[in-house]
Amino acid sequence: MAQKIVAGNWKMNLESDEAFQLIDELNTELEESDVRVIVFPPSLYVLPLSKMNKGSYEVGVQNFYTAESGAYTGEIAIDQIKSVGGSIGLIGHSERREYFNETNAFLKEKVDVAIEKDFDFIFCCGEPLEIRESGKQADFVKLQLEESLFHLNAKQMEDVIIAYEPIWAIGTGVTATAEQAEMMHKDIRSWVADKFGQETADKVTILYGGSCKPGNAEELFSCANIDGGLIGGASLKSTDFSAIIKAF
Ligand code: PGA
Repeated sequence: MAQKIVAGNWKMNLESDEAFQLIDELNTELEESDVRVIVFPPSLYVLPLSKMNKGSYEVGVQNFYTAESGAYTGEIAIDQIKSVGGSIGLIGHSERREYFNETNAFLKEKVDVAIEKDFDFIFCCGEPLEIRESGKQADFVKLQLEESLFHLNAKQMEDVIIAYEPIWAIGTGVTATAEQAEMMHKDIRSWVADKFGQETADKVTILYGGSCKPGNAEELFSCANIDGGLIGGASLKSTDFSAIIKAF
């Protein structure tokens, strides 16, 4: 079965005192539940946040590099992340694709390294506005999956977490309607089923991201193929983030 996940992508926000305060609040507000809760702070804070963890969330990284170690100024490796308590990484967020030129081919390398290192990841995909307006969003997202994920075998694929994040809905306040999101999620699951079989497709977790907030989370999460959310802006306020988790 797919996992239920709510993940908060803090992006390049919060100074350390604000980050620690947010985590203190989450430690108080989060209740025991069957939802897997993950926070993705700036990597600087992974170590202190792991130490402050009372067990109700996991700490992940927004980015990592493919090499094991060595002369790669500014980058961080999976073993280093694990050594400070990070358990999962984002791969292919649209902001990494756009501002740091991460291509489907490079993201495939990250997927391979993560699997080799037994490091969980959330693979992000999603189309820009002009592609949505031309009606070619399904082809666009399918190609992202084919070029970065579909070389895996079924056993590897079943543990993959995908986040569908239409770029036009990220940080804009414009959410994809539950119907638009569900249509893409259903397509994603059917492409996985065509390639790897239905049993694998049923185990793949597919999250929605893009202006998800307390007011729309319940409707989104009640869709058959939406297994949770990757939350940006609303993950920076503990009350909003906890409300989204409770929306399950
Ligand atoms: P948003 O961001 O919730 O602020 O739209 C989502 C994301 O980029 O992961």
